Amino acid sequence: MKTIEDLGDLRGKRVLVRSDFNVPLDGTTITDDGRVRAALPTLNALLDAGARVVVTAHLGRPKGAPEDKYSLAPVATRLAELLGKPVALAKDTVGESAKATVAALGDGEIALLENIRFDPRETSKVDAERESLADDLAALADVYVSDGFGVVHRKQASVYDIALKLPHAVGKLVLKEVDSLRKATDDPERPYVVVLGGSKVSDKLGVIANLMTKADRLLIGGGMVYTFLAAKGYSVGNSLLEQDQVETVKGYLAQAAERGVEIVLPTDIVVADTFAADSPHDVVAADAIPDGRIGLDIGPASAELFRSKILDAKTVVWNGPAGVFEFEAFSAGTRAVASALVDAGKNGAFTIVGGGDSAAAVRILGFDEAGFGHISTGGGASLEFLEGKTLPGIAVLEA
Ligand code: 3PG
Repeated sequence: MKTIEDLGDLRGKRVLVRSDFNVPLDGTTITDDGRVRAALPTLNALLDAGARVVVTAHLGRPKGAPEDKYSLAPVATRLAELLGKPVALAKDTVGESAKATVAALGDGEIALLENIRFDPRETSKVDAERESLADDLAALADVYVSDGFGVVHRKQASVYDIALKLPHAVGKLVLKEVDSLRKATDDPERPYVVVLGGSKVSDKLGVIANLMTKADRLLIGGGMVYTFLAAKGYSVGNSLLEQDQVETVKGYLAQAAERGVEIVLPTDIVVADTFAADSPHDVVAADAIPDGRIGLDIGPASAELFRSKILDAKTVVWNGPAGVFEFEAFSAGTRAVASALVDAGKNGAFTIVGGGDSAAAVRILGFDEAGFGHISTGGGASLEFLEGKTLPGIAVLEA
């Protein structure tokens, strides 16, 4: 892959950068700006080189037409604060406003195009439609830099097709993500421990199947654990359960036993009356979840167990919170996992926090990001990487 440095002198050149600015919003307030901050090294390098930087990105999943609630305006504001310079926000994606905004840029200045998913061609399954949007984007720039790691698993116009239209390079964020994830997946130092959580086991089937051939230990928490507990024959009350996955999970448990992969499940669970921050709650044994109650976190004995299974690792990958960390009463499990990763890191382990919710958890729970080897900005993208899949947005840069 060519890097930004390989692109030569960029002074006065229009550089189109694909970033992932799909940030969580509460109204127009960004609740976690991690992805905006992660874009800064590439953007600053280009601006320092005197490029005219044009950023394209998406927010949410609009249905191919403009919608105010998906405007990138809050991102433009935050980006300007972080860069310490104005960010011109075009009112459209590749239309008259975009053209005028780009034409007005001076060397070392930056513009952001409106949410690229306001254009239905971005996510079209029809190659010619995506290509026509890529042509429109290409007309706005001289070179393309791919830096939206969170979307490299999407074969979309601004991620994939555009790289076939312009001279291109990989951005600093995508390079760092790929290097870190390869370190963990290609030849991990052992013990290699993976902690999986999050709500749905069906989202993680590919990862579990692939890790079964690679990891030494799999620790399971979060909403997906109840399908594992059900597969062991335990009743799970009103907890999240994917009944149609129980047989698949039984298969994984059998396969793990055959292969000598240790699957670690919680031994106790924090159960609540309802899914609410202030719900009354108790700790019960994992095989004794009462009818009518709902598991929202791993219990204290499990948190200790998980910690002991993480501390001696040399490589740790964590994807998905252990409980409903957004509610203080159910955040202890996730906190314990995060702090065990930090301590394993102090013992010399290389630790990776998979993107999405676990990366947000680390920041929201107040951990110092420097305590982790790598915090990915990719949710689905980092999962697909761990599954061993080819990511179109990476493959196109390597071609
Ligand atoms: C993400 O948030 O994981 C990325 O921005 C990709 O978004 P998507 O799942 O809507 O394609």
